[in-house]
Amino acid sequence: MRIVCVGGGPAGLYFALLMKKFHPEHSISVIERNRPYDTFGWGVVFSDATMVSMRAWDPESAAEIEDAFNHWDDIELLFKGTRQRTSGHGFVGIGRKKLLNILQRRCEALGVELVFETEANGDLDYPDADLIIASDGFNSKIRNRYPEVFQPDLVVRPNRYIWLGTHKLYDAFTFDFRKTEHGWFQAHIYKFDDKTSTFIVETAEETYEKHGLGQMDQQQSIDFCEKLFSEVLEGSELMTNARHLRGSAWLNFNRLICGKWSHFNGNSHVVLMGDAAHTAHFAIGSGTKLAIDDAIELTNQFNKLGHTRNNIPQVLETYEEIRRVDVARIQNAARNAMEWFEVVGQRYADTLEPEQFMYSMLTRSQRISHENLRLRDPKWLEGYERWFARKNGLDVSGNGRTLPPMFTPYSLRETHLPNRIVMSPMAMYSAKDGLMDDFHLVHLGSRALGGAGLVFAEMTCVSPDARITPGCLGLWNDEQAVRWKRFIDFVHDNSTAKVGIQLGHAGRKGSTKLAWEGIDQPLEDGGWPLISASAIPYLKHSQVPKAMDRADMDRVKADHVRAAKYAAQAGADWLELHCAHGYLLSSFLSPLTNLRDDEYGGSHEDRARYPLEVFKAIREVWPQDKPISVRLSCHDWFEGGNTPEDAAIFAKMFKEAGADLIDCSSGQVWKEEKPVYGRLFQTPFSDKIRNEIGIPTIAVGAISEADHANSIIAAGRADLCAVARPHLADPAWVLHEAAKIGLTNIPWPKQYYSGKAQYETNLARAAAAAAPPAVGPAVVAK
Ligand SMILES: Cc1cc2nc3c(=O)[nH]c(=O)nc-3n(C[C@H](O)[C@H](O)[C@H](O)COP(=O)(O)OP(=O)(O)OC[C@H]3O[C@@H](n4cnc5c(N)ncnc54)[C@H](O)[C@@H]3O)c2cc1C
Ligand SMILES: Cc1cc2nc3c(=O)[nH]c(=O)nc-3n(C[C@H](O)[C@H](O)[C@H](O)COP(=O)(O)O)c2cc1C
Repeated sequence: MRIVCVGGGPAGLYFALLMKKFHPEHSISVIERNRPYDTFGWGVVFSDATMVSMRAWDPESAAEIEDAFNHWDDIELLFKGTRQRTSGHGFVGIGRKKLLNILQRRCEALGVELVFETEANGDLDYPDADLIIASDGFNSKIRNRYPEVFQPDLVVRPNRYIWLGTHKLYDAFTFDFRKTEHGWFQAHIYKFDDKTSTFIVETAEETYEKHGLGQMDQQQSIDFCEKLFSEVLEGSELMTNARHLRGSAWLNFNRLICGKWSHFNGNSHVVLMGDAAHTAHFAIGSGTKLAIDDAIELTNQFNKLGHTRNNIPQVLETYEEIRRVDVARIQNAARNAMEWFEVVGQRYADTLEPEQFMYSMLTRSQRISHENLRLRDPKWLEGYERWFARKNGLDVSGNGRTLPPMFTPYSLRETHLPNRIVMSPMAMYSAKDGLMDDFHLVHLGSRALGGAGLVFAEMTCVSPDARITPGCLGLWNDEQAVRWKRFIDFVHDNSTAKVGIQLGHAGRKGSTKLAWEGIDQPLEDGGWPLISASAIPYLKHSQVPKAMDRADMDRVKADHVRAAKYAAQAGADWLELHCAHGYLLSSFLSPLTNLRDDEYGGSHEDRARYPLEVFKAIREVWPQDKPISVRLSCHDWFEGGNTPEDAAIFAKMFKEAGADLIDCSSGQVWKEEKPVYGRLFQTPFSDKIRNEIGIPTIAVGAISEADHANSIIAAGRADLCAVARPHLADPAWVLHEAAKIGLTNIPWPKQYYSGKAQYETNLARAAAAAAPPAVGPAVVAK
């Protein structure tokens, strides 16, 4: 085959050398506009996994690359006058020039034709090629020529960065955060050869503009950065090698995803590779890795399916299918890390203490968890756990194991939770006339015995017509309050857990069948009239609710007040006002379901007016020494609906009205919603609200392991974690998770105590049998 790689970056060169190596009969050319020793940028970092596959695919170039590597294990943070360091992170850095030169030499040795200083105008320049690799980088001319085919989706990110170098050598991957009168700057610094370190400076657009960096030439920008980062530079100078860039050289990162990666232009098959197909932010240093992995996979498919022109369409299809998965995974992690650096100034830098700031930074991509940090640097993590426990009032002077963050106690007003795990409210559809019965006592009681610090019963309806289904719990009469008291007394007498009641009104989602008879489906018989912010049915065939008038509002407010009084009478420890999931109060907050033109619709303030009125009314009658949380849908997952930005505005209003905590859920407001699920998928909403609005939060949603909860709480992304479905699968979820992480100093109910040691021993045995090999450094140091 005749193969032309347009662009001699890592992608084009590595693919050319692999293909030539496995099939020397191919005629392969790499067309590169630069000279062999020209390049932008400084060093790049690699992970161990990339090197493992490079070693397997081409040991010759891998050996040279490893020889040129600079390895380091430590991450150091300079922040607010402190220097903190952790180890075990295993990175390798190499100069981009060095890497390209190694690949260029290897290409030449194998017989690849390298054509330098030649600008390719596009794929049509090479009509004789069977296969054209568009490895021409992020600004790919080839990709840009066929936008309707490749469907590039490009997002220009808000931060500005400048890629500099310095001759000062650092023995750790160093992050330095500096505050100026206009905001925060951060430097990402790592050594990549015996003489040089990469020094990337990043800041928010607003800060960049206020400092007039856009008007500065490169030297002026360098002078600015040298002054700002003088402590970490210790007199060394910064350098640029991007003189070819006109203007200031401060760039915005562009995130690129393509809908399709290949195309037949009439003569040749064209395929995107590396940055031409996708980009990953430098915050996790994976752009070069993705380019190399693309080259490997495309070669792998030729090796599997055969190195002939006829096979090209199938090869390209499988290549894209396989690579898409890995690219999406890395882009996801890169997005989390990138977003952390984008919001660090407004969210974390001013509020978090240096210790927690360090933890938050280390876990920014959410690929590194609490237990993962323990593997990397146990001493550092133990120190952090001690710091966190001490901050939360625990005595850490003894020799015993420090309680990890999720097991530290938490207090709001005079309510003291023994740990940070909340059993999230879950409708059970098993009540008659809103009355708790033995099912609820056993169901909720066993979760309290199972270790949750706060046990929420399901949404508890404030009147018969506030119910979702005929099976929902209620709190509108004396008999119901008596049953509640029986359950609450049981929990208080037999466990250290506290009991929360979530008050709610179903609104337009009421009068429906029990979940297992047809969730959200309207009742055929025995239904009741519905009310909502506006007269919009939930499903097309649902009952059309009445838009509430003032009399309805007064009645529903009074119903909430009555329920709150009953809850206090029953001895509940915590109240939550349900303003989420499209139920009555949520229907006021969302612009999708609130089309009112009176003072209860329109702006944020108007949409929140009635929910706030109800909140204030229950706050008045609920004991002052007990907290009230508010559950919000922080994202409607539908265009025109609420976003996390809106949720933050509402959170601030509830905070000002006296709410103690925001329970950050999402969705279920609009039937056609398009939620993006995934591990911890709603935690970013909690993170935003907690750290931008300054109110405690509960994170909820796909939190299913102690490791998740510990990571969230330790990083300050939430104060409490609510766990719903895992509690359905395992009433003793909390006790079992403690045992899984080897934590044995957690009390079990005295009646169950004899089961504890055996359970722990069995788990420890199973873990030892399945233990992976010890985690070592990424790559052996030079
Ligand atoms: C600030 C910053 C820091 C980074 N840090 C890291 C890091 O630490 N680790 C990491 O892995 N990645 C890092 N990257 C990303 C990395 O540089 C890229 O992801 C990687 O180089 C992609 O390789 P590529 O071969 O696809 O494209 P490129 O490296 O961009 O190569 C494309 C090549 O094509 C040539 N070319 C383009 N158009 C034409 C044309 N028409 N004719 C001829 N030649 C052409 C260009 O001159 C260039 O040499 C960083 C990027 C930035 C911006
Ligand atoms: C069976 C079931 C019933 C639920 N009922 C309620 C409810 O009454 N009130 C509420 O706010 N959320 C309710 N939810 C949502 C959960 O509280 C929680 O937010 C959601 O399940 C995500 O958490 P998870 O991933 O841990 O399950 C319910 C969830 C389930 C699975």
